[in-house]
Amino acid sequence: MLKIGIINVSDRASFGVYEDLPGQEVRKVLNQWLSVDWQEAYAVIPDEQNLIEQTLVDFSDNQKCSLIFTTGGTGPAVRDVTPEATDSVCSKSMPGFGEWMRAKSMEIVPTAILSRQTAGIRGKCLIVNLPGKPKAILECMEVVFPAIPYCVDLIEGARIETNADQMKVFRPKSS
Ligand code: MTE
Repeated sequence: MLKIGIINVSDRASFGVYEDLPGQEVRKVLNQWLSVDWQEAYAVIPDEQNLIEQTLVDFSDNQKCSLIFTTGGTGPAVRDVTPEATDSVCSKSMPGFGEWMRAKSMEIVPTAILSRQTAGIRGKCLIVNLPGKPKAILECMEVVFPAIPYCVDLIEGARIETNADQMKVFRPKSS
């Protein structure tokens, strides 16, 4: 069974100052795109690097997520540490994800350059950072998702299938 982690990294959302709209956006998009049954691991946590790392380790190692999306904490502000936490728990970094999300987002908004979002592999799990704004989340997921199922195949995670009319993914070899 495919399990996907959604982690909203946000001081204000974790303290209940505002609703977790980023997490809801990721869930909504996945429900639209995925044609396979999937389970969710979910957390809303403050911008504390050790807590982000612990949650990423728990979701990948214990909860067996094949894929984790984080939202928020990718910018230059003092408390933005999601990319550092991601790098520190991953054995391989996957810089193409961040590069391509930034490049495509720059066509939409000049401040996309402020996002330090990255991605990496921990065991059989791909971790992808998304920015915190719901609009930015969809813009970034659309850009990288076509390559995600094949990446998860390669690291021996669960099979990811989509509704092709909603999200067309690419697998180089018919696998
Ligand atoms: N990417 C897209 N596609 N659309 C956006 O509106 N906002 C940017 C950037 N990336 C944006 C985007 C802004 S304003 C910031 S500060 C950074 O993401 C970091 O956001 P975060 O700290 O919420 O992760």
